[in-house]
Amino acid sequence: MSQASDDDRRFVWHPFTQMREWCAGEPLIIIEADGAILRDESGREYLDGNASIWTNVHGHRQPEMDAAIRAQLDRVAHTSFLGAGNDTAASYARELIRAFTQGDDQRGWRVFFSDDGSTAIEAGLKMIHQARCERGESRRTVYLSLARGYHGDTVGAMSLGHSSVFHSAYRGLLFESREVMSPACYRCPFNNARPMRGSDARLTRQCKMECIGEMERALDAAGDTASAVVLEPHIQGAAGMAMHPPEYLPRVAHMCRERGVWLMLDEVLTGFGRTGPLFACQRDHVTPDIVALGKGITGGYLPLAATIASEEIFHAFDSTTFFHGHSYSGNQLGCAAARASLALLHTAHDEAHRANHNLALTAAARRFWQHPNVGDVRITGQICAIELVADFDTRTPLPAENRTGARVCQAARHHGLLTRNIGDILILMLPLCATPAQIEHAVEALDRGLREVLAPG
Ligand SMILES: Cc1ncc(COP(=O)(O)O)c(C=O)c1O
Repeated sequence: MSQASDDDRRFVWHPFTQMREWCAGEPLIIIEADGAILRDESGREYLDGNASIWTNVHGHRQPEMDAAIRAQLDRVAHTSFLGAGNDTAASYARELIRAFTQGDDQRGWRVFFSDDGSTAIEAGLKMIHQARCERGESRRTVYLSLARGYHGDTVGAMSLGHSSVFHSAYRGLLFESREVMSPACYRCPFNNARPMRGSDARLTRQCKMECIGEMERALDAAGDTASAVVLEPHIQGAAGMAMHPPEYLPRVAHMCRERGVWLMLDEVLTGFGRTGPLFACQRDHVTPDIVALGKGITGGYLPLAATIASEEIFHAFDSTTFFHGHSYSGNQLGCAAARASLALLHTAHDEAHRANHNLALTAAARRFWQHPNVGDVRITGQICAIELVADFDTRTPLPAENRTGARVCQAARHHGLLTRNIGDILILMLPLCATPAQIEHAVEALDRGLREVLAPG
C-alpha cells in the first residue's frame, strides 16, 4: 500500500462514505488529470464519468482555466470581502448577471458569493426569510419544495430537501417545509403510459399533468402564508437525475407569480451549460426571484458559489443588513476561475458545442436499451441516467440490498470509467472536452460493467 493510501485510511474522513468499509478496501488515490482523463497513483487511467461529482465543466488542466488562475495568483489569492471589494469578483458579478439575464434588464440583480451549493441555498433561504419580515410579510413562513429534492447538507438546505437517505438522521435539527410531488415522469403514479423501449417517458407520458395540480393545491392550501417554492429546474440530481416534463417549470413559475410567492431555483447542478442552455431556466424563459449556483461555477476548479437575488428582494434590505457571510466570500482565485469558465461557455464550449456533445451521448447511450434490466435511459444536455429495474413492464426496482448500481460502477472501473451510481441509477456526465470517441468509450465501459453484473440471460 502506498503512503497516500495509508494516510488516507488512517487520517481522512470521506463524505457520504461508510468509513469502516472504505478502510477495509484499497482507497483509490487520484494523483493527476488531463482533459476528461483521471490518473491514479499506479498510473491507471479512467474517464471522469461523473465530472468529478458534477463539478467539472471543461475538463482538467484546461489551458485557459489554468492560465487565468495562475495570473490571478500572481496578483493576489484572497482578501476580505467584508469592508473591501475586489476587481475580479466585481467584474465576474457583472458578467454573471449579464449571462443570467441574457443581456436583458440587468438592473437591480445582485450576486452574493459563498463557497458551495449548500451555502448558496442557505444564503438564499435566509435572504427570503429576512426580506419577508422587512416587507411586513412575516406571515409568509411556508416553503414548498419537491419530493426527493436535494439542496445540500447545511441545516436550512436539508430542511428544504426531502431525501430520506441523506437527511433522515438529522430530522430533529430541521424546520418543516411542505413536500410537493416530484414531476418526474418515469416513476410518476399518474403516468398511465406503458413503458416503451427507446422512448423518453417525458414525451410519451399519458397523464393530465397532475403534478401541476398538486403544486397548485399546495400553494392554495398555504395561501398567504406561502413564502417561496424552491426547486431544481428540469432535473432533480440526487433524486436520481429525475427529469421533469418541459411544461412544468413555466407553469409553476406562473402560479408563483400570480400568488406573490417567490420562486427560488437551485441551479447548483443544472447551471453553467450542464443541460444545454447556460441556465436550465433559460430554456423556458423563466426568471426566478432568486437562484443558487455552485458546482460548475468555477468549471470544477475551486470552491465558489453564488446566490443571485432580484431587485425586489435586494431592496427589502434598504434599511437593514443581511447578517450572513463567509470568510472566503468573493475569493479572487475562485472568481478568476469562474470568469475563465464563463468565457469558455461562450466560445470553445458554446451552445453549439454542447448540442454536439448531447448528440454524441444520445447516439452512444442507445445501446443501453438492449439490456433487459434497463428500464429507462434519460438524457438532457451532458447528463445521462440509466435506471435499472427487475421488471421492465412494471418498472419494479431491483432489491436494494443487492446494491446493483454500485456493483456496476465498480465493474466499469476495470474498463476505464470512474462514475457513481445513485441507488440503481447509473450516471454518466463527462466534461465538455470529451471527444465522441471518449463518450463512446465511457458508454461501452458502463455497458460492459452492466453485463458483467447482470448477465442479460
Ligand atoms: C441540486 C443541488 N443543490 C445543492 C447541492 C449542494 O451542493 P454542495 O455539495 O456544493 O454543497 C447539490 C449537490 O449535489 C445539488 O445537486
